[in-house]
Amino acid sequence: MALLALLPVAVSTAAPGAAQPSWAAQAERRIVGGAADSTVDHPWVVAIASRLQFGYNRSGQFCGGALVTPTKVVTAAHCFYDETTGLPTERPELRVILGRTDITGDEGVEVPVQGVWVDPGYSFQTNVRDVAVVTLAEPQHGNPVVALVGQGEKALYRAGVKGTVYGWGDTVGTGRYASQLHSVQVPILDNAVCAADYPGGPAGRFDASTMFCAGESNGGRDACQGDSGGPMVVNGRLVGLVSWGTGCAEQKHPGVYTRLAALVDAVRRQL
Ligand code: ARG
Repeated sequence: MALLALLPVAVSTAAPGAAQPSWAAQAERRIVGGAADSTVDHPWVVAIASRLQFGYNRSGQFCGGALVTPTKVVTAAHCFYDETTGLPTERPELRVILGRTDITGDEGVEVPVQGVWVDPGYSFQTNVRDVAVVTLAEPQHGNPVVALVGQGEKALYRAGVKGTVYGWGDTVGTGRYASQLHSVQVPILDNAVCAADYPGGPAGRFDASTMFCAGESNGGRDACQGDSGGPMVVNGRLVGLVSWGTGCAEQKHPGVYTRLAALVDAVRRQL
């Protein structure tokens, strides 16, 4: 009986929206294997926040996103779904935060949101078309934006191409840079490799038409819970969004990203 108490708590793979103890698996719940970075260098990396739902100590941050026009932020559809019910959910007092490298601080600006478009083809069950567009209530002219990938830019997704992914994670960690924006470089993987790693079942199913994978074959570098919706950038182009994965930075379980080139027509209609 005493042994039971020593068993490690199962690491939840839930989105940051899920209710879970904040002390659980903190070390794994940020960009893994990367380094602290700054919104000064990447001012289009934004945090998406709801203090009412996610608390005050990290500005209410629960997802990442990318500013693509002065009023539009591209992020993941699943950021607006309840992890426990699998249903779309309201995010009260939704804010987009720009220029806040340290998410526990009050640098930068917090912009109220006018509306959220979730790709109508998104499925919580299969994770396909995991993209949403958030419209800001106040335009952020003068804040640099990132260029959305073009539909034809297929070469950016070739296996071996290195992308950079950015995020804050969703819990207050004990590590040195826990509250700072982090980024990590990860190579894009061949679709066949990813399909083998995610054949369906408990690990999830990879759909090459709306997703791509990135990670080292030995693991070690990855996005993680709370980085969701955050940008993956190749050659200055927003090519992907942090979508899902089994665990974080595990061998044979790469990070899965929204394949924006395939969805960019629908996204552009919202801009
Ligand atoms: N679904 C997670 C979130 O809501 C993102 C998980 C990404 N996982 C990974 N191993 N790359 O934050």
